[in-house]
Amino acid sequence: MRLLPLLAWALLPGCRAEVSGPTTVRGFLGGSLSVNCTYQLGDEMEPKFWCYPGKAFFTCGGDYIITSEDKPMVRQGRLSIRDNRALRVFTVTMDDLTEEDAGTYLCGVRTGTFQSDKSHRVKLIVSPGAAWRRWVPRPRGAAPGCV
Ligand SMILES: *[C@@H]1O[C@H](CO)[C@@H](O)[C@H](O)[C@H]1NC(C)=O
Repeated sequence: MRLLPLLAWALLPGCRAEVSGPTTVRGFLGGSLSVNCTYQLGDEMEPKFWCYPGKAFFTCGGDYIITSEDKPMVRQGRLSIRDNRALRVFTVTMDDLTEEDAGTYLCGVRTGTFQSDKSHRVKLIVSPGAAWRRWVPRPRGAAPGCV
């Protein structure tokens, strides 16, 4: 069965090459955090989004924040998203973190085709207290099972 490992690779979050980023990010209550997600050559002008996951794999449950071709930088309240098309990385920043912000998100590229967004799953952990401490990004590790 050659198909099985390939299928497992395709479904493992963090192993798809289309969009990649950290699997877990941490922030403190009241603090802020940033997430970098990188994307493939050719997707520079496509909209980049950050959303809650939907019921199906790699789909959004509802758009949270999204860029457009004309607006590579968008701010909505505590949330901002900035697309660096030269480096093919977009940065999502969340300020004034609350406990409700903890959970799973998707960062991705909107392809315009139903349910075929290219996305990466990120788990956000919000720790209580120590909001004055600067959040230091940890080295990005490959998700388990990636080669
Ligand atoms: C995101 O990438 C930019 C460079 O594109 C870098 O300056 C920044 O430190 C990165 N942030 C995180 C949280 O990795």
